[in-house]
Amino acid sequence: MNINMDTDSKKWLTTLLGKNVRFDEPMSGHTSFRVGGLADVYAAPENLETLKALISWAMQKSIQYTIIGGGTNLLVRDGGIRGIVIVLTKCLDGHKLPRTETEKDRVTITVRAGMRLQNLCRFAIADGLKGMNFALGIPGTVGGAVRMNAGTAYGSMETALDSVNVLLPTGQVRTVGKKDMDFEYRKLSWNFHDLPLTTKNENRTTKHKTQNTKHSQPVILDGKFTLYPADPEKLKKEAEDILRIRRKKQPTKLPSAGCFFKNPSLFCKNGVYRKSAGELIDLAGLKGKRIGGAEISPRHANFIINRDRAKAADILALAELARETVSEMFDVKLEPEVKIIGEQE
Ligand code: EPU
Repeated sequence: MNINMDTDSKKWLTTLLGKNVRFDEPMSGHTSFRVGGLADVYAAPENLETLKALISWAMQKSIQYTIIGGGTNLLVRDGGIRGIVIVLTKCLDGHKLPRTETEKDRVTITVRAGMRLQNLCRFAIADGLKGMNFALGIPGTVGGAVRMNAGTAYGSMETALDSVNVLLPTGQVRTVGKKDMDFEYRKLSWNFHDLPLTTKNENRTTKHKTQNTKHSQPVILDGKFTLYPADPEKLKKEAEDILRIRRKKQPTKLPSAGCFFKNPSLFCKNGVYRKSAGELIDLAGLKGKRIGGAEISPRHANFIINRDRAKAADILALAELARETVSEMFDVKLEPEVKIIGEQE
């Protein structure tokens, strides 16, 4: 337990959050990998005001906080997480219906960050809107997907995203347009040094010196997407095909965090050609390899699955084996796509 988390702090948190706070909470219950040690504090604020109060208190007390969405692209080490884990699914309620506005040939649709990405995809199909099918099958929330610039071979979040509202550590809510977000492959960075920040009410430009530290990460509250009218039947058919291929190629029913490694950028040798991380691990002969309860999926080599009560350490050891073997055999350095957090046991 964090030394800052004394009895008074616990009392304060319980008063603020009631039944929505837990102490020494196993993260294995909150990640799709089904692994992870204890979080000192696990908090699920019910509304924005409570979220703001919690962040402000943690900053005042210099208590570290970690924001999580659906926990689907996350590997929490066995030693757990110090400080406060803040889960956003309650306060950024994903069940609220999207808000749509029609503009000429396009439709903009705004959804809360806590909405499941798959619900957004389904909503778009049902409304005959094209532009979200690329995300079919990606687990997690809209907020998490934007934060990771989640994607597939068909596209990534940056293609459909228009803007987001974020909560700054100062408690202010700002609208950030796409041009002020730096999207890279499976990565979004905020450039707060030069970011023109305008609130809805004060239409002015501010130089904001926010550092991208753990304490000052903006929280994505919602996302506005631009989609295009299309034939719903066609969209539905396309969606069925994408999901069928995914189920065939990937171990979708077993606990994992999706693809473990990013696909390497151009892999050059004897001319330019490209191989995916899955293909390289497969060629290295590692499909089906097990360490403890973790296994490199026999179906898709870029998936590490929790086959039987794995520990985070088993998954990390398998990942390291894959990295080393691929590096030795193909001279390619694989980098995790999954976010690895927490402390070793
Ligand atoms: N391959 C193998 N062996 C394997 C796996 C793949 O030889 O074990 C080969 C395939 O035959 C194919 C190539 O590698 O020629 C690419 O494989 P695949 O089509 O499965 O795509 P991927 O690059 O491995 C990406 C995304 C997935 C997404 C799929 C489908 C990354 C890191 N992964 O996988 O996203 O589902 O395309 O669009 O970008 C995820 O959501 O976490 C995720 C897995």
